[in-house]
Amino acid sequence: MKVLVTGGAGFIGSHTLDALRARGDTTALLDDFNDFYDPAVKHRNAAATGAQIFAADLRDRPAVRAALQAFQPDAILHLAARAGIRASLENPRLYVEANITGTLNLLEEAVALGVTRLVFASSSSVYGNNPKVPFAETDALESIISPYAVTKLAGENLCRIYAGLHGLSLTALRFFTVYGPRQRPDLAISKFVKAIATGRPIDLYGDGSTSRDYTYVTDTAAGVLAALDRLTPGYRVYNLGGDHPVTLATLVETIERVLGKRAVINRLPAQPGDVERTWADLTRARADLAYAPAVPLEEGIRRYCEWSQPLS
Ligand SMILES: NC(=O)c1ccc[n+]([C@@H]2O[C@H](COP(=O)([O-])OP(=O)(O)OC[C@H]3O[C@@H](n4cnc5c(N)ncnc54)[C@H](O)[C@@H]3O)[C@@H](O)[C@H]2O)c1
Repeated sequence: MKVLVTGGAGFIGSHTLDALRARGDTTALLDDFNDFYDPAVKHRNAAATGAQIFAADLRDRPAVRAALQAFQPDAILHLAARAGIRASLENPRLYVEANITGTLNLLEEAVALGVTRLVFASSSSVYGNNPKVPFAETDALESIISPYAVTKLAGENLCRIYAGLHGLSLTALRFFTVYGPRQRPDLAISKFVKAIATGRPIDLYGDGSTSRDYTYVTDTAAGVLAALDRLTPGYRVYNLGGDHPVTLATLVETIERVLGKRAVINRLPAQPGDVERTWADLTRARADLAYAPAVPLEEGIRRYCEWSQPLS
């Protein structure tokens, strides 16, 4: 299969490309290599995937068209997005343009070229402060609290509408706090490991009781491929979580245990945009995608630390 991965120079995209290459698919990536974090990291990620590279911004529709026409994909994994929740509060317009207009451009050009198979990366943040746990795909989405979440919910709805109008086979996947080697430097685990390893204080927002359903990145990538392989006409949505939500306090203890060092904690007030908890109901993903997250948190943190250190 010829698979185009948008956002393929990023964290989850580059792991997904690794998984596609390992099974022999022909791959390309489309990415704008923006400076949300060091573009040199993205260029290194992209080069290591062995995929054909299209440096293009999804907001630039002719550039999207040119990439699609040049590569002629059988399927598109749309993982590109501005992905920082807190940054979306500061610059919501950029998030709307990259994530909503960008998704619309991609859908329109896919339809124009006759590409009918797509997977869309959504997020647990569409559940917001959902009062019920675990979060199920059938829950009402009435509690979102960040512009980022707005863009992901809009992206899902554009996908659903385009699937219906144009007979696409399209699956949206709600990722839950993905972590692992190459992860974005703005994520808590990146910051905590770096600070604890070097004896610097960590900024801990809130009282440590917020919880997250952390998902190791190879589990997420396996879920993406499972969704790709099972595409059939119509629109579907699945949670891809880790199945073991833990509190922020437990996350810090786990990192301390793996590194064999104590954290110096700098307590700060809870941040706007941060939800109380996430927890994926995986019933649907297990049944339809045979999704089975395999890497427990402590093992995943160990692998991340091995990748990100020389410990000092
Ligand atoms: N990491 C997580 O915990 C998590 C959780 C839920 C959802 N997601 C979603 O998964 C996807 C991948 O996230 P990630 O953590 O790998 O982030 P990432 O920032 O490492 O990867 C996103 C990539 O998209 C590219 N990109 C952004 N805007 C673009 C544009 N306008 N045109 C072309 N390329 C553009 C970036 O340069 C980057 O390489 C995103 O859609 C994100 O919203 C991630």
